[in-house]
Amino acid sequence: MLISFKSALVTGGAGFIGSHLAEALLAGGCRVTVLDDLSSGNERNLPASAGELRFIRGDIRDRRAVENAVAGCEVVFHLAAVVSVPKTTQDPVGSAEVNEAGSLNVLDAARRAGARRFVFASSSAVYGDDPRLPKREDMAPKPLTPYAVQKLAVEYHARVYSGLFSLPSVSLRFFNVFGPRQDPSSPYSGVISIFMTKALTAGVPVIYGDGLQSRDFVFVGDVVQALIRAANSPGGPGKVFNVGTGRSVTIRALWEIVSALSGSSAKPVHEPPRPGDVPQSVSAIDAARTDLGFVPQVSFEKGLEMTIAWYRKTVLPEDIQ
Ligand SMILES: NC(=O)c1ccc[n+]([C@@H]2O[C@H](COP(=O)([O-])OP(=O)(O)OC[C@H]3O[C@@H](n4cnc5c(N)ncnc54)[C@H](O)[C@@H]3O)[C@@H](O)[C@H]2O)c1
Repeated sequence: MLISFKSALVTGGAGFIGSHLAEALLAGGCRVTVLDDLSSGNERNLPASAGELRFIRGDIRDRRAVENAVAGCEVVFHLAAVVSVPKTTQDPVGSAEVNEAGSLNVLDAARRAGARRFVFASSSAVYGDDPRLPKREDMAPKPLTPYAVQKLAVEYHARVYSGLFSLPSVSLRFFNVFGPRQDPSSPYSGVISIFMTKALTAGVPVIYGDGLQSRDFVFVGDVVQALIRAANSPGGPGKVFNVGTGRSVTIRALWEIVSALSGSSAKPVHEPPRPGDVPQSVSAIDAARTDLGFVPQVSFEKGLEMTIAWYRKTVLPEDIQ
């Protein structure tokens, strides 16, 4: 994809999604700065061909570190966050210091440095348990967790900066992102990474409730496409966009596909539904299609194949790969 800018900051660039973005930007000829404190990311994730890559190990709460990172960057992609919803419920204040105040730090540094665009990684969590489907951006948000409130607060800040301070800002509400490099060791990781780890290590997956709850799983390469389009396109500033596929898959069907791909014959164990779990979720992506030209390219099946190939290399001991 053509990239219309020459330099970018990726906060959270040593994480799952941020590292794929950094890689795509470098491949497109962009100079990239990554700011990451490695709290849930890992330096291993950073692209190996470090030609135009500057890595700063630092915290988005640290104004100096953020100023230093933003300097000279035309576009700021802000992905760094406490990403675990349970962590934000256990520590609403500490997580807000990162997810709200830290984000405002990045937004304001971008304004002061004269950045051309700010792109924020928000979440479908802002919709909460509104039963209407598909989720559309014009529905009233119904955040149910500190994580969702924090994401929503930053969307509002970004919109205000677009209007008040002329820093064109775009927020993207990611649905369930999956792909290589999603941390398989984290208990908070997405269901796909947990299922793949179980399938490849002869483990038994847990399904909460009847397994008929559904999610809109979007491949990380398509999320990167949306992020770059949000930075490139004239149609985005001041707005929020869903980033999903517009299709949903039940958790039960997901395990069937993962077990078929991996050869696992394990039968899932059912446990009671988790409080606060949303029964169904699927995105409407018309707005992103119209304003950003976003069209998902990778089918669910193809995305799963690429992901399981990575998990085989990462999770399995070498002698049985
Ligand atoms: N993965 C998903 O399905 C999903 C869905 C919706 C939204 N998001 C959002 O997308 C973004 C990226 O998520 P991810 O899945 O790649 O998670 P991730 O944990 O792999 O990446 C987050 C990165 O932020 C870094 N970080 C955390 N706190 C920091 C701080 N104080 N200062 C500097 N760096 C810090 C971490 O070290 C990590 O590298 C997050 O903002 C997340 O909330 C992800």
